[in-house]
Amino acid sequence: MQIEAIEKRDGVQTDLLAVGLWKDWDKKGVLSLTSLLDAETNHWATLCLKGQKFEGKGGESKLLHLNAKQPTRNLLVAGLGALKESKSNALRGFGALTSRSGTKIHAKTVAIDVDSISASRCKNRYQLLTEGLLLGDYSFDLYKSKENQTPRTVDQALLISRRKIPSAALKEVGLGKTLAEATNYARDLINIPATDMTPGRMVQEAKKVGKIHGVSCRILDRKACERLGMGGFLAVASGSLQPPYLIHLIYRPSGKPRGRVALVGKGITFDSGGLSLKPAGNMETMKDDMSGSAAVVALIKALATLRPPVEVHGIAAMTENMPSGSADKPGDIARTMNGKTIEILNTDAEGRLTLADALPYALKQNPEVVIDLATLTGACVVALGDLCAGIMGTDQRLVNDLIASGEEAGEKLWQLPLIEEYKEDIKSSVADVKNIGAKGAAGTITAGLFLREFVDSATPWAHIDIAGPAWTEKPLPLCPRGGTGFMVRTLFHYLSNYRRSR
Ligand code: BES
Ligand code: ZN
Ligand code: ZN
Repeated sequence: MQIEAIEKRDGVQTDLLAVGLWKDWDKKGVLSLTSLLDAETNHWATLCLKGQKFEGKGGESKLLHLNAKQPTRNLLVAGLGALKESKSNALRGFGALTSRSGTKIHAKTVAIDVDSISASRCKNRYQLLTEGLLLGDYSFDLYKSKENQTPRTVDQALLISRRKIPSAALKEVGLGKTLAEATNYARDLINIPATDMTPGRMVQEAKKVGKIHGVSCRILDRKACERLGMGGFLAVASGSLQPPYLIHLIYRPSGKPRGRVALVGKGITFDSGGLSLKPAGNMETMKDDMSGSAAVVALIKALATLRPPVEVHGIAAMTENMPSGSADKPGDIARTMNGKTIEILNTDAEGRLTLADALPYALKQNPEVVIDLATLTGACVVALGDLCAGIMGTDQRLVNDLIASGEEAGEKLWQLPLIEEYKEDIKSSVADVKNIGAKGAAGTITAGLFLREFVDSATPWAHIDIAGPAWTEKPLPLCPRGGTGFMVRTLFHYLSNYRRSR
């Protein structure tokens, strides 16, 4: 779908015109602000809405089919909610509703009346609408026969205004497009079945990204990881027939970098639990256990286009977690890259074993901050549900910045405390730490405390548990069932606001 912002003073020729109305819309003639519709249609549409008690609440919408003689064949009126409510997700939702409604009625072109959303109320409306149009248009059809695929009829979306389009708006459209496309790319990586999206396939994807100007890619195979002493990562990989790889992507800005950030994504292409096998139902969505790595790879791809002035290292230790004769066993002790030993009591707590090597590897790149994202604990889904990630860290400013970046992106992050006393829970009698908490309580926090053992105290670190929001079972306003691409956009905002200098 091609998206364009254009100035238009008279009627617009389109299959679907979308107009947004705030909750306190002026019932007498709000639609008249779209002089794009002729007076007769305007009058008729306003009457229609009155009759149907259209209030303009968020999520409310009406699709009106107009007289065939009209240049605009269908009118979508969408409620944007009360003015005081946060507007960014309302606008993304409006964009998404527009592209989805267009698809439903087999429209070839859709148009959004940008003037119906006043600029003072929403500064980056062009960006938000673009993001919404493309995120809402996503569907995962790669494995469907033609007749079952969602027909993609909408090939053009216009963002129309009666005023001159400012050059900033064109930039916004570009930004929205790149962010949405990167998010949709992460969704594809997650949604492709685990038998196809193997560690080797993720390496192919990373190599493709590594070929883009400004990005480079290093791949460490099993031998290279052995040489570095990555016993935690390799213990998880030992049960699988698929060779493990550590992916290291580097994005370098053109000028002098304003700083250096390392991002580590959990990359379990399938989590069966290993010998501590999961029940069948819990395994159904475990192809999503590489969502952290998918977000990192997709983000680096977006950085090559958006070019923020920060050097970024994207790291992911990729493997399956499988049961077999060669799998790691409960009671095993693994020695990790930083020399610490881990008693593996549950092979299903594998994410932290891989991160116990990926984090020290990230620190070797000498970053100013380290952020990891991982579908790490079911406990986090119990605590925060599937719309919110848990965040913990050693530096409050970093945590605050990430939460604020999440707000900008429309992604929720909630801080959990790293309670010192709970460290008792992961003490082992035979190794430095064990990979599950003794009591099974506060599972997300004990996982965070475990990871903290593998970062140094001098480098600010944040851990984001995305076990809930990485996947959605029910369709969301911006995403169908499946992988969501959570964190791609939050991390971009974090990097583009990055100011820290040593
Ligand atoms: N990948 C899972 C966590 C998960 C659960 C993600 C549900 C998404 C949805 C992780 O590897 C895991 O199995 N964690 C265990 C840890 C436990 C054994 C300490 C869990 O949460 O049950
Ligand atoms: Zn697991
Ligand atoms: Zn896992």
